[in-house]
Amino acid sequence: MLKYRLSAIIRFILIKYLFTCFVCVCVCVCVCCFRAVSMEGQPLSALSSPALVVDIDKVKTNAQRMIERCQALGVQLRPHMKTHKTLECADLMTAGSRRCIVVSTLAEACFYADHGFDDIIYAYSLPFDKIERCAALSEKLDLFQVLLDHHDALQQLKRRPLKDGQLWHVWLKLDCGNGRAGVLHSEPEALSLARAIAGTEGVELTGIYAHCGNTYSCTGVEQIQAVAQDTTSCVLQFMEKLKAVGITCKSSIGSTPSCSHPVQDMSKLSEVHPGNYIFYDVQQSMIGSCSLEDVAVRVLTRVIGHCPQKDQLLIDCGWSAISLDGAGKLPTGYAIIEGHPDLKLSSMTQEHGRLEPISGHLDYSKYPLGTLLSLIPHHSCATAMMHPVYHVHSKGRLLGTWNPTRGW
Ligand SMILES: Cc1ncc(COP(=O)(O)O)c(C=O)c1O
Repeated sequence: MLKYRLSAIIRFILIKYLFTCFVCVCVCVCVCCFRAVSMEGQPLSALSSPALVVDIDKVKTNAQRMIERCQALGVQLRPHMKTHKTLECADLMTAGSRRCIVVSTLAEACFYADHGFDDIIYAYSLPFDKIERCAALSEKLDLFQVLLDHHDALQQLKRRPLKDGQLWHVWLKLDCGNGRAGVLHSEPEALSLARAIAGTEGVELTGIYAHCGNTYSCTGVEQIQAVAQDTTSCVLQFMEKLKAVGITCKSSIGSTPSCSHPVQDMSKLSEVHPGNYIFYDVQQSMIGSCSLEDVAVRVLTRVIGHCPQKDQLLIDCGWSAISLDGAGKLPTGYAIIEGHPDLKLSSMTQEHGRLEPISGHLDYSKYPLGTLLSLIPHHSCATAMMHPVYHVHSKGRLLGTWNPTRGW
């Protein structure tokens, strides 16, 4: 009897314990959901800093303008995902088609493939440690495309034939003056590599890809268009050389500056591949690709210290929230401090930033501790990379969050 009573008591305690645990878990889930939802509609000042905030209205306008520009030109837009790495921006940039994109990492390629995107170019000199993953994507998607600029990379593809007679879709990277990756367009090597790709069993020469990153040293539309014209002419001449040896394939050039101010001859290309335009940044406004009003991202930061002995303000945005990009390029330091043209982000450590007056002395009464400031980044690709979550708003009211993919 006593034994029976004891086991009944233990059972009762156990059930009570389990029930309490269940209630606690439910409460935690509800609180988390409520907190996530409860940010909606709140002002940006409700966010903890530092925070990357995205103006959805500007993003939509930037995406739509590029779509319309390419339609007017009669060239296919293949937007690059590297700046934002999110599904939401990808949908806006592809007008919901989820087709025809460029990525710079395999992590991006897998992320988009897993979410129903297809017709993807992995526009990065083929890394030999990733051939197997590229093969898996090629076998999974309708159209996964790789890029190469060396005979050895072609040999790697030859050694890994795809299943069921599928073809490796290959773009040849041509250097038309950018000077980073690619075979120099004027070298006989460029034509010989194109012929080798086209003549290799199990491999198709899908296109010629040139990135005109040299538009980044331009100032003003005239200079941008001169580089855009040079790159376009260079690729079109190369296409003629290919035609003369019986090869036809696609062609693609692009960068945000060149595609923000395209030249007419770009309509003779198959595609263009800009990416940064979705956010734009201070750098693009200085080049002349956009105006400062078009920049869709900011880093929110707060004043966390006063340093009168140095005439400085300490903020909670270090290089881990905005990046070190832009050093020495702006009169206002690493960023533009919105609404405070008299301030300069002069130096940063990992989590701390220092603001100084550009001239004269700081009036500390204007910047009490806790003051919220908004930084316009020099290079939005570098800044966005620093944030695991983007806070999306419309007219200063929070709408929700976007979660970018990360890694290589
Ligand atoms: C290979 C390649 N293609 C396209 C782009 C997109 O150019 P942008 O960032 O100027 O839009 C980049 C940018 O770095 C790139 O590296």
